[in-house]
Amino acid sequence: ISLKNEFKENFYMGVAINESQIEEQDSLETILISKEFNSITAENIMKSMFVHPSKDTFDFKLTDKYVAFGKKYNMFIHGHTLIWHSQLAPWFKTIKDSAEMASVMENHIKTIVSRYKGKINSWDVVNEALNEDGTLRNSVFLDTYGEDYLAYAFKLASESDPDTDLYYNDYNMTSVDKRNGAIKMIKRIQDKGIKVDGIGMQGHWRLDSPSIEVIEESILAYAELGVKVAITELDINVLPSPWDLVGAEVSQNFESSEKMNPYSKSLPDSIQIKFTKRYQDIFKLFLKHQDKISRVTFWGLSDSHTWLNNWPIEGRTNYPMIFDRRLQAKKAYDSIISLK
Ligand code: XIL
Repeated sequence: ISLKNEFKENFYMGVAINESQIEEQDSLETILISKEFNSITAENIMKSMFVHPSKDTFDFKLTDKYVAFGKKYNMFIHGHTLIWHSQLAPWFKTIKDSAEMASVMENHIKTIVSRYKGKINSWDVVNEALNEDGTLRNSVFLDTYGEDYLAYAFKLASESDPDTDLYYNDYNMTSVDKRNGAIKMIKRIQDKGIKVDGIGMQGHWRLDSPSIEVIEESILAYAELGVKVAITELDINVLPSPWDLVGAEVSQNFESSEKMNPYSKSLPDSIQIKFTKRYQDIFKLFLKHQDKISRVTFWGLSDSHTWLNNWPIEGRTNYPMIFDRRLQAKKAYDSIISLK
């Protein structure tokens, strides 16, 4: 029994892999990855600050290893991400005008996508371009090139590898304003005759939000655009969010507060039960819409390495994944498998 076998008729089962897993390919972690998953995403190494550290330098040492890893296990390999305002190589911010940005984007996208033509099966072409109200986020891309930097990025990527699937990826894709903004933005690209193959809903979710109904509405709304929907960065945060606290409390030093890290010793059964049910409900929904869903990727393998131990507050003890700190499958894993 494994996730990839049980779900092989439904959608790819993916996992984001980090640098140490890419470097050390015979560890217990990578054995588990190859047993359970048939798709990988690079958690960090393909971001511009790592792969394109200065204007004239690309560093493909780790990305080549990443692609070799996926090929070795015959996996669906995803590229994350070409154009993103965050973890951006600092030199991008020195770009002054649209002509310079156009040539930088062309060099950046063509060099990376062409190198892995026929090897990387899908790309996050643009990541997190939207504000919560659905307008375009300020970034050096928007400032210099203008609104059509998105269409231009998709055009460059499809010219570099016509067969790889091109995605727009973002978080909070279930919120109504942002969803409407995303739909408008994708239509604008499609109206220019440029292809978009998919929408990535990141899936950084919590125990009780977003609701299953809202997730469902969003999957359906994106599928209406004629694109695939992928759940690209799934994890279920069980800790309180600092943004849920109001006013004065936020400005206090919440980093050390027990309130912000309430389960640092262990997770109570009551939460564990909710967590198990949450994963089961989510996968039940994915199965219901399997014709629209191309891939479901967990944002990390186990609780020991998840970014949610460090975000938005450093050094918390979080429990968002379906494998625990000793790489043992949790009940949530069984609850997913039991749907099949
Ligand atoms: C995160 C990684 O998991 C962390 O290791 C890194 O320090 C910051 O980025 N949205 C994305 C991902 O698209 O690339 C982010 O990954 C999480 C939020």
